[in-house]
Amino acid sequence: MHVTHLECAACGACHEARRLQNLCTECGKPLLVRYDLERAARSLTRESLKGRRADLWRYREVLPVEHEENIVSLGEGWTPLLHAARLGERLGLRRLFIKDESQNPTQSFKARGMAAAVSMAKELGARKVAVPSAGNAAGALAAYAARAGLEAFIFMPRDTPRANVIECEQTGAHVTLIDGLITDCGAEVARRKDGEGWFDVSTLKEPYRVEGKKTLGYELAEQFDWELPDCIVYPTGGGTGLVGMWKAFEEMERMGWIGAKRPRMVSVQSETCAPVVRAFERGERFAAEFENAATVASGLRVPKAIGDFLILDAIRESGGAALAVSDEELLAAVREVGAAEGLFVAPEGAACLPALKRLLRSGEVRPDESVVLFNTGAGVKYLEAFGG
Ligand SMILES: Cc1ncc(COP(=O)(O)O)c(C=O)c1O
Ligand SMILES: [Zn+2]
Repeated sequence: MHVTHLECAACGACHEARRLQNLCTECGKPLLVRYDLERAARSLTRESLKGRRADLWRYREVLPVEHEENIVSLGEGWTPLLHAARLGERLGLRRLFIKDESQNPTQSFKARGMAAAVSMAKELGARKVAVPSAGNAAGALAAYAARAGLEAFIFMPRDTPRANVIECEQTGAHVTLIDGLITDCGAEVARRKDGEGWFDVSTLKEPYRVEGKKTLGYELAEQFDWELPDCIVYPTGGGTGLVGMWKAFEEMERMGWIGAKRPRMVSVQSETCAPVVRAFERGERFAAEFENAATVASGLRVPKAIGDFLILDAIRESGGAALAVSDEELLAAVREVGAAEGLFVAPEGAACLPALKRLLRSGEVRPDESVVLFNTGAGVKYLEAFGG
């Protein structure tokens, strides 16, 4: 157990790690877990990983759970990094890869964050957990809460893909559908949580989902044999995966596993919900709420993210970019990736492809570079978007 404390990502205030915490009590911004990395690095070495379990708990020393028996696992993480040779050939990219997160439990990368958050909620004594969700986080929370014996309270927009609603019901969660967006769902959780005794596991409003998601960064480094790719293209809603990877890179450098070179982080959003893209273009550190947010890529329908400044800092420090694509483009990309590589990707993951094409055209990505597209979920959960 190497956690030293929780640190506010905005004001730097220290918070105690061994009790349930949400946002910084000084400034209301997200808390991040800090570790004694020097100690962690004594047993967690690049070589030590070779014989370890094939899930995200292989990075145990840099994850927050203290007691092994509190780990709630369904086999999350250690997903394939697939060489996309046929798609790459079409784009003129020899080193194009897809990190296929649809192969996680509950078919999305949200399993990583929820495995960590639910394990910690259990360890620190929560009985009831609540979340606002665009869909996939809800399915993941419902599954992990069931496995942990916790009660889950889930709030989703009424027009969330049916598969997400049904999976939550079938894994025993209490589901409430709201006429509104994820921000309205979040407001409902905030309004009721104290009275109901719920622990709020909204993304970046508790410190542990980002710890689960950061394992994306550890895995990429390990799967690339400790040479990070030149560019990562990531579909961004709340941004927890991007923020998590950025944190992982820093931790790995401090443990002496990688050098100072970082991938350029490219954030992809929908034209009809692009708060991060707009703030990036305007040079702003925080993103204003995006009015009338709408997109079939439901995970990208996040008009306001509490970790906006962390996303924007990572994009800028990395020399990356933020791009918006249309629903038409991303739906066409589902079929293009599917036909070229045999993956039925989520619309969010598909959005990375038109963004990459644009970067290739503008010369921001060169043909000799290595590029990773993130397929964050499974297309089969979005049948309505394909006329199903
Ligand atoms: C499939 C999928 N991709 C991407 C996202 C956005 O992820 P993040 O909140 O980490 O930015 C979501 C969020 O719901 C999602 O479900
Ligand atoms: Zn603070």
